[in-house]
Amino acid sequence: MYRLDGKVALVTGAGRGIGRAIALRLAQEGADVVIADLDEASAKAVAVEAMGIGRRALGIAADVTEAAAIGDLVARATSDVGEIDILVNNAGINIIAPFLELTEKQWDALFDINIKSYWLCAKAVAPRMIARGQGGKIINAASRAGKTPSRLSPTGAYATTKHAVIGFTRALAFELAPHRINVNAYCPGVVDTPMWDLIDSEVARRTGAPPGSTKARAIAEIPLGRVQVPEDVANLVAFLASSQSDYMTGQAINITGGSEIH
Ligand SMILES: NC(=O)c1ccc[n+]([C@@H]2O[C@H](COP(=O)([O-])OP(=O)(O)OC[C@H]3O[C@@H](n4cnc5c(N)ncnc54)[C@H](O)[C@@H]3O)[C@@H](O)[C@H]2O)c1
Repeated sequence: MYRLDGKVALVTGAGRGIGRAIALRLAQEGADVVIADLDEASAKAVAVEAMGIGRRALGIAADVTEAAAIGDLVARATSDVGEIDILVNNAGINIIAPFLELTEKQWDALFDINIKSYWLCAKAVAPRMIARGQGGKIINAASRAGKTPSRLSPTGAYATTKHAVIGFTRALAFELAPHRINVNAYCPGVVDTPMWDLIDSEVARRTGAPPGSTKARAIAEIPLGRVQVPEDVANLVAFLASSQSDYMTGQAINITGGSEIH
């Protein structure tokens, strides 16, 4: 549908969840894929799945908070698979704690993974896109929380990082527009991945709410009436990775079942 044949995509945090669905969807659209994750076994397993679709794929362990590791990752990706046309900054973590309880270490971990790594990866990949002169796509994981912090769970610091992702997306879009590199962000709502299981269990531990009830409340508020699956997000990212979105840049697009409308 989106004709990504001959393109190379690097997806971070793609060993599971939304990143895995994105990597496999881009592979289905014809792209060769590099799957980077802290967890080497899961990255390699997703690469095997992508190869099963008929694409070239590399599953590789990388901590995207480390500039040196990103340098190695990009060097290995380009030598083994090819120059990167599509960068999906997807790796992210959540820490469930009110601001006044959050430690400095937790604050730094959230910012290192959720926003600094996006800058570091863009800094490693964009100059190569510019040098090739063929444009490119940088796609960042924001969140509904990047527009409206949650009232159901104490995840304000996470929301702060996701607001930063949207600011970064807009500012980088201006800088890279002259090079025909589109920079956009996706803003999912309640996606059924281990991240939401963590939110639910942490709220249960902190408040005594019955396990499953926080996630159930969040799902009950979704206008389209169902939890989101990672493939819903991958549908949007496939579009953003394709030439169909060539005239779109600096956008933070909601994919929330109607929960977020601005
Ligand atoms: N699940 C949701 O409801 C939801 C909603 C909105 C936005 N998001 C965002 O979407 C993205 C993916 O979320 P998910 O639900 O699939 O999460 P997940 O926890 O299921 O998967 C995240 C992956 O990132 C990897 N990762 C973490 N730190 C890393 C690091 N330093 N280097 C490399 N890899 C690392 C993990 O190993 C894991 O495989 C995140 O940025 C998240 O904030 C998720």
